[in-house]
Amino acid sequence: MDKKNKVFVATSIDGYIADKNGGLSWLNLDWLHVFPNPDNKGMGYDEFISDIDALVMGRITFETVMGFDVPWPYTKPVFVLSSTMTEIPESHKHKAFLVKGELTEVLEQIHKKGYYKLYIDGGTTISNFLKEGLIDEMTLTTIPILLGSGHPLFHKLPKHIKFKLIESKVFMNQITQNYYTRVE
Ligand SMILES: NC(=O)c1ccc[n+]([C@@H]2O[C@H](COP(=O)([O-])OP(=O)(O)OC[C@H]3O[C@@H](n4cnc5c(N)ncnc54)[C@H](OP(=O)(O)O)[C@@H]3O)[C@@H](O)[C@H]2O)c1
Repeated sequence: MDKKNKVFVATSIDGYIADKNGGLSWLNLDWLHVFPNPDNKGMGYDEFISDIDALVMGRITFETVMGFDVPWPYTKPVFVLSSTMTEIPESHKHKAFLVKGELTEVLEQIHKKGYYKLYIDGGTTISNFLKEGLIDEMTLTTIPILLGSGHPLFHKLPKHIKFKLIESKVFMNQITQNYYTRVE
């Protein structure tokens, strides 16, 4: 089975995935909606999500999405990483599953359940995967705004990780999207 860990995330020019209040994402947004989008183009999200088996998400992203005033947006299982959460809230018990331990062990548990193509989400979480060389592909959508502070996509890494640009797109003449794969 082809095991892949993929990132699909929108960032500000200065590399934040949420402002300092934390409540922003590509799902329900203030700053992602600053540009008119009359054709309602999904910028590749629907194609991306239909091709993955499950999500692995940080606790902060999970709590943020739970707090959105919209129905649960995922039809695939969501594995939530946390060292502080003791259980998934009752309302989300059959949609999300708590996972703990070393990332390689967590991945093994998820693969054993039959999920191989994984969407890794949340800045701290993505960086934790990167630190262990566990991200294979990244689609980074850059919104032309400087947030100045907030939740960064990238944190410190112990070494360089090389990626190759596979495709680059521009939406609405404003938003750039780069698709990278890791160079082995
Ligand atoms: N713009 C976008 O496309 C986009 C996408 C995703 C998220 N967001 C936004 O980004 C913000 C959240 O990002 P974030 O970087 O602050 O946090 P995050 O990655 O969502 O969550 C971080 C938390 O995940 C848990 N975690 C991560 N790695 C772990 C590991 N190896 N083992 C155990 N637990 C682990 C820890 O939870 P504990 O503290 O419980 O241990 C950690 O505090 C939210 O505001 C969200 O809306 C934006």
